[in-house]
Amino acid sequence: MSDARNAVIVTGIPGVGKTTVIDTAVKMVKDKHNEEVPVLNFGTAMFEVASGRGLVEDRDEMRRLPTVTQREVQQLAGEAIAKRAESAKVIVDTHTLILTPNGFLIGLPEWVVRAIKPKTIVLVEADPEDIARRRSDDSTRARDVQMVEDIDTHQKMCRSAAVAAATLTGATVRIIKNRQGKVEEAATQLYETLME
Ligand code: AP5
Repeated sequence: MSDARNAVIVTGIPGVGKTTVIDTAVKMVKDKHNEEVPVLNFGTAMFEVASGRGLVEDRDEMRRLPTVTQREVQQLAGEAIAKRAESAKVIVDTHTLILTPNGFLIGLPEWVVRAIKPKTIVLVEADPEDIARRRSDDSTRARDVQMVEDIDTHQKMCRSAAVAAATLTGATVRIIKNRQGKVEEAATQLYETLME
């Protein structure tokens, strides 16, 4: 029985360096194999829906919308992403848990993760103190300011959410550490998962 799977879901809490690791791994695939790996960014798909409805002006406002609205926007974006993840090798850049003012929102609800049917769910993680510093150094975004202890809790909760999503789909779960100044090391591990 064939169980061909094309999608790798890459997650990580804001400021962990998820997009930096993804961009570096995609470049490695291009340089070594002359192959393009499309990156489907869930946040961008949601932002297109939410800004189109006049709900937000920047992507950092989305996690502060009422959760009922976030779920509606998530559903529309999820349908578009799942459709595009059907055929070729792709990365879905998203979150397992979004920190909202009313607690954690599941980023990969059952119907989204089943539709994507990922090969692997990657958790990009970093030292909570490094994450806090990366957030405060990023002047281009309205990043959340959080206690180091809360960042640590969020990362641990994300592990549970990833395992739950993998249980529904049979995906593997891979933790990739994005150590300070070691993006290449983290990207090499993501490259290996993409090429497996
Ligand atoms: P999203 O688009 O995923 O934004 P994000 O969480 O802010 O993530 P980024 O893409 O900015 O990446 P990053 O923060 O990991 O770090 P970066 O590479 O920039 O999501 C936006 C919003 O969409 C969410 O808040 C949510 O509202 C919504 N959303 C998304 N998916 C959803 C879903 N499924 N359901 C519901 N809502 C959803 O790096 C940060 C900084 O660190 C940079 O300055 C970088 O240079 C530096 N850095 C990176 N790596 C290193 C390193 N190894 N050493 C030193 N510095 C480093």
